[in-house]
Amino acid sequence: MSKFVLSGGTPLRGAVRVPGAKNAVLPIIAAALLCDQEVEVDDCPDLSDVHNMLAIMERIGCRCRLQGGALTIDASSAHGWEMPEALGKELRSSIFMLGPVLARFHKARCPYPGGCEIGLRPINLHLKGLRAFNVGIREELGYIVCDGANMRPANILLDAPSVGATENLMMAAVGIDGVSTIQNAACEPEITDLAKLLNAMGARITGAGSPTIAVDGGHELHGVRHTLLSDRIVAGTYMVAAAITAGDLSIENVRPDHLESVLACLKEAGCTIDIEGTAGEPCRVRVRGPLRPRELHHIETQPHPGFPTDMQAQFFALACVAEGTSVITENVFENRFKHASELSCMGASIVLKDRTAVIRGVQTLTGAQVNARDLRGGAALTLAGLRARGESVIHGVEYIDRGYECLDKTLSSLGATIRRLA
Ligand code: UD1
Repeated sequence: MSKFVLSGGTPLRGAVRVPGAKNAVLPIIAAALLCDQEVEVDDCPDLSDVHNMLAIMERIGCRCRLQGGALTIDASSAHGWEMPEALGKELRSSIFMLGPVLARFHKARCPYPGGCEIGLRPINLHLKGLRAFNVGIREELGYIVCDGANMRPANILLDAPSVGATENLMMAAVGIDGVSTIQNAACEPEITDLAKLLNAMGARITGAGSPTIAVDGGHELHGVRHTLLSDRIVAGTYMVAAAITAGDLSIENVRPDHLESVLACLKEAGCTIDIEGTAGEPCRVRVRGPLRPRELHHIETQPHPGFPTDMQAQFFALACVAEGTSVITENVFENRFKHASELSCMGASIVLKDRTAVIRGVQTLTGAQVNARDLRGGAALTLAGLRARGESVIHGVEYIDRGYECLDKTLSSLGATIRRLA
């Protein structure tokens, strides 16, 4: 297990470019199974989650290449419909493959998925939607076995706007003759990016990014070249890094229209935000942090366009050093405060009750040995360490590597004193 060793107290300064979004590329990799020509993706981040997903694709016969941000997937020789157990369990996103695998092979067998431990993360919505497409599903020794020989279009009303279920069902529907609809669909920008790729491949999807998506399926798809949407969570994390260190960062390749709730909270904390660029296009966002952040009255995580659950932990770290008392409620996942006890070890003052945290900001955090227990929680501990007095050691960097490309090197280039030890 690797660890970060860092000394806090230096305001971060400089420029950083945000790569393509992990949460956009993972379903896009699965979507490549829907055609037998090359799918090329520009600006692909080099992350362990991406490599795990590519390893699954290779195990079922695809040829994948990732070099300098250019990803190529050739699924023409894909043969399998069975996902390898070890990899599938490691990566929750392997569940995305059910939809495209069924569309291509009409049968699938996959292990129950894994991923960060941030709550129960069931897959009932995925399975309920597939059943509505007339997929026969049974469980066999820890595997989900799907029979898609008689798939037909359906109108699906999701009980909750699950991001993964929306993506999975959209990809399954692309392979089914006729018109399907998904209502109460998730509206995250990554869903719009997936629909953009699929439409460029020849699919007919309307409404992605709204709660009602219609898919006119059964059309043949072809290869395509796609530039990935930038990662709004990585962008938001660097913004909080500027805020928590009283720093001054110019963050490039950012879509401010995808981060409105995050930018509002940064302003509430006292940051100065300057945006350069055209609305609806990647912009440069300069964030200057105050000497001491102000409290965040009440952050509540919600599906997009609400405050993203994937930014909750980073703002939690910011609240720990803010003036006054902040309140954070986590509505999306039931167990996403694992960073709280670790931040307490650094001197934070936190009261947790159910899904709400009350955080009384302290003047200084103190460096400590802490454990990352999930991806964003790990990023939050790193941010806290950048502000803390003395040395912090963050264990469990493997979690952080799932979603940040060399976070240590980037922070170091911005002036942080941080190194990685094996
Ligand atoms: C995706 C993101 C993740 C983000 C999350 C919410 C990817 C690869 N990951 O995860 O970073 O935190 O969206 O924005 O894109 N649920 C069910 N049954 C299901 C599916 C989900 O009850 O079948 C629940 C989950 O337990 C959770 C909520 O719905 O409480 C939201 O989950 P979902 O939107 O599906 O998240 P993911 O797609 O797993």
